Amino acid sequence: MAGLYIHIPFCRQACHYCDFHFSTTLGTRGEMADAIVKELVLRKDYLEQEKIETVYFGGGTPSLLDETELNKIMSAVYKNFDVSKDSEITLEANPDDLTEQKIINLHKSGVNRLSIGIQSFLEEDLVFMNRSHNAAQAIDSVKASQDKGFENISIDLIYGIPGRSESDWKLNLNTAFELNVPHLSCYALTVEKGTALAHMIAKNKTASPDDEQQSEQFHVLMHEARTAGFEHYEISNFAKAGFRSRHNSLYWSGKKYLGIGPSAHSYNLSSRQWNVSSNQQYIRSLKNSELPAEIELLDDKTKFNEFVLTRIRTIEGINLKDVELAHGKQRAEFLMKSVNDYPVKEHLSLHENIIKLSDEGKFFADRIAADLFQD
Ligand SMILES: C[S@@+](CC[C@H](N)C(=O)[O-])C[C@H]1O[C@@H](n2cnc3c(N)ncnc32)[C@H](O)[C@@H]1O
Ligand code: SF4
Repeated sequence: MAGLYIHIPFCRQACHYCDFHFSTTLGTRGEMADAIVKELVLRKDYLEQEKIETVYFGGGTPSLLDETELNKIMSAVYKNFDVSKDSEITLEANPDDLTEQKIINLHKSGVNRLSIGIQSFLEEDLVFMNRSHNAAQAIDSVKASQDKGFENISIDLIYGIPGRSESDWKLNLNTAFELNVPHLSCYALTVEKGTALAHMIAKNKTASPDDEQQSEQFHVLMHEARTAGFEHYEISNFAKAGFRSRHNSLYWSGKKYLGIGPSAHSYNLSSRQWNVSSNQQYIRSLKNSELPAEIELLDDKTKFNEFVLTRIRTIEGINLKDVELAHGKQRAEFLMKSVNDYPVKEHLSLHENIIKLSDEGKFFADRIAADLFQD
């Protein structure tokens, strides 16, 4: 069981907070689709013929692909990989791309799950973030997708925006609940180096996100989402029964995945590799049937630390028996001791061999994981 990720590195405009790899030069889309097809062929043995359970078009903005480009990539996927009959095929879409015709075409191309980048249903947030859609488009895109038969829909929301109150955030969440989407991914606004947001903060044009406000809004999120019937199955992810993201779950449970396209990462249990983050270089190399990528062989300590980092974020937590099986008795004992000695007792628990974060601890998940790493 493995996953396939395909990165579509184009966006209509740059959101102020975003440092994912994308270009706003859309003219090379056709060449990019050809290069991606070429990479799919070149790397068809990477997963050693394991069945593909999930395909995920991420970005950038995959909904910028036209029907021909998407179908070309899909055909190459089916031709070169053993895709399971009941595979989950997700595509990240921006609201302003989701016209009725587009939604129908996505359905026809085999996409069966949409992840819509709403970010906020509030006009002022969308302007602050420099999104290319407005609040009405945010709502319409979800309704139109449902009308045209998409049941498996996730939406992305961002909280902790400077100056926004708890009630603004509740309004956002309630709109999502009223729209009846079965999956939410919610992220605290993060200031990434080199982004427009970082410059705006440096020039005092806007305030920095506030830790306390973000933590409060995270607690509101956990409470409201649970009350609305969502399972909080990973720090940033909430699902109604049967609607967890199978693709992301595959990452969190340490399965193999192949990443195609510029900046995409791949993992095959023993190494991790990542493609060059440049559209031009990627296209040029693939024209010569070369893959511009770097590779890191994972030693035992790195594998253990990654295990801790990903598992601690999930509702299942870290089972010390799994640690012993995968990483040996010594590491399991090391982890048990680290948890028992952990200074902030109320942030995590060890019960019947399973380590879990408390609701208080969840907001600090990455920091706590790092504290449990082996140096
Ligand atoms: C890389 S984007 C791709 C999806 C799509 N292009 C979109 O924007 O709707 C994936 C998600 O990451 C989140 N994200 C990206 N940068 C972020 C940041 N600096 N802080 C918080 N969330 C962020 C957004 O919610 C976004 O929808
Ligand atoms: S958040 Fe999405 S649409 Fe905005 S720049 Fe990043 S990838 Fe592009």
